[in-house]
Amino acid sequence: MWNGADYQQRFDALAASGVDVHGEATFVRAFAPKSVLDAGCGTGRVAIELAAHGIEVVGADLDESMLAHARELAPGITWVRSDLAELDLGRTFDVVVMAGNVPLFTEPGTQDRLVAGVAKHVGSILIAGFSLDRGYSVADYDQHCAQAGLKLAERFATWDRAPFQDGDYAVSVHAS
Ligand SMILES: C[S@@+](CC[C@H](N)C(=O)[O-])C[C@H]1O[C@@H](n2cnc3c(N)ncnc32)[C@H](O)[C@@H]1O
Repeated sequence: MWNGADYQQRFDALAASGVDVHGEATFVRAFAPKSVLDAGCGTGRVAIELAAHGIEVVGADLDESMLAHARELAPGITWVRSDLAELDLGRTFDVVVMAGNVPLFTEPGTQDRLVAGVAKHVGSILIAGFSLDRGYSVADYDQHCAQAGLKLAERFATWDRAPFQDGDYAVSVHAS
């Protein structure tokens, strides 16, 4: 479904034009985690930036094209190919992050299983950013988090912490 090289190229072009493409990683780093699971890591752009700051990271994704690019960019990081709904790494991470609309790209109707799968790996908090104009609402997401034992702690409109006011994007922080 994905083309990892094309996907990464878009971000490389943005970075080259001076855009800060590390807003998600900066947001995650504010929680000072020692370990992070990048759930739906794609080409690994968030995980790689976190690793560059000394954080232990694992990336997981279902798409082989995205993962192949991640492996090429950062062979030293552990990249796991798995459906997040089935993921079982047998451990937790201080932070689990889903950046880049991950719940919108999973099979429709399976978001509850996706959230349950990632929630198993939450040691402290789950962070997710996704658009709200594509049929999956924050109310749906909060319900799926609650079913997985996670409570809403904070919600913002952007990765740089603009206040959430029922707009079309949300960055949600749920705690165990
Ligand atoms: C738009 S990309 C975001 C990639 C990366 N997080 C980023 O921000 O650049 C969405 C990713 O979610 C992954 N994804 C969606 N549903 C998934 C699932 N159920 N299991 C594993 N990966 C999934 C896709 O394969 C894709 O790589």
